[in-house]
Amino acid sequence: MIKISGFKISKHHSSNRIVNIQIEDKTLEKLSEKFSRFDLTAIEYKPFTRFTVAKYLDDLTNNELSKYLNDILRDRKTGCFIIGPEKITNKTDDIFLVKLSTAITHLIGTPNHDSMAGKFYARFFVKHEDKSDSYLRKAYINLDLHTDGTYVKDVTDWLMMTKIEEKNVKGGESVMLHLDDWESCDELFNDPVGRENFIWSSPKSKNVDYKVEHPVFFKDNNGLPQISYIDQFPEPKNMKQGQFLQKLSNALEGSKNKIITKLPVGSAIVANNYFWLHGRTPFKENQALSRELLRIRGKFFD
Ligand SMILES: [Fe+2]
Repeated sequence: MIKISGFKISKHHSSNRIVNIQIEDKTLEKLSEKFSRFDLTAIEYKPFTRFTVAKYLDDLTNNELSKYLNDILRDRKTGCFIIGPEKITNKTDDIFLVKLSTAITHLIGTPNHDSMAGKFYARFFVKHEDKSDSYLRKAYINLDLHTDGTYVKDVTDWLMMTKIEEKNVKGGESVMLHLDDWESCDELFNDPVGRENFIWSSPKSKNVDYKVEHPVFFKDNNGLPQISYIDQFPEPKNMKQGQFLQKLSNALEGSKNKIITKLPVGSAIVANNYFWLHGRTPFKENQALSRELLRIRGKFFD
């Protein structure tokens, strides 16, 4: 494993494909001091400020971190890292975590506008009660494996999911599946229906007022499979497409090679969105359940 001063880097205990990056206390202190020069309004209103906080982070590592994070995400063998403070302190509060997430993503690429939140990132809660129109906030239902950005025009090369805080939580583990570990990948990738255009739309809360068309599977530059899929949003045009999607959904959820892991508070999963799928197990019922998440999706720098 590569060594970067101020960080502890190892393979994640759940998978050889996931790199675990812990930010040491002394690094967090330096970052916290530098981040305090900007408030969240500056970060939200001035896109260049986001690059300034990213540069603070990269400068602490002699610009090694940005190169390393990009290498991980583009490498088909890995494509995913989990990053977060080694220890949670009063310095690593929610504001700090928004700034840290902003800094990390701006070493990778430019974030897409998140229509649900109206800015480049979205913060949202999962709670006991939910009246929303998508699975995202339904605590007691499995959030099936999917990729992000399936129903928008923006290129979505990567995504970050940060756990800001949680209370009274049991269950709700992160579920990840790499296409190359999936038993049914060859069969479904080679099914001609998977290369047909599907229509993708989204419910009202997503604030996207158009539909897009694209296939479920496509090839990367080396001819390897890539996927853009979520169970809730394709509109099958006929029985053949409907049956294909049902088969795909069953095969994904039935995989024995899913990685199920508990993301620590303050940590983020960052993954390549074309060969990693993500989901969440159901939470255990609790009236006082509360989890706050942050998400950012975007494209790589050219
Ligand atoms: Fe997602």
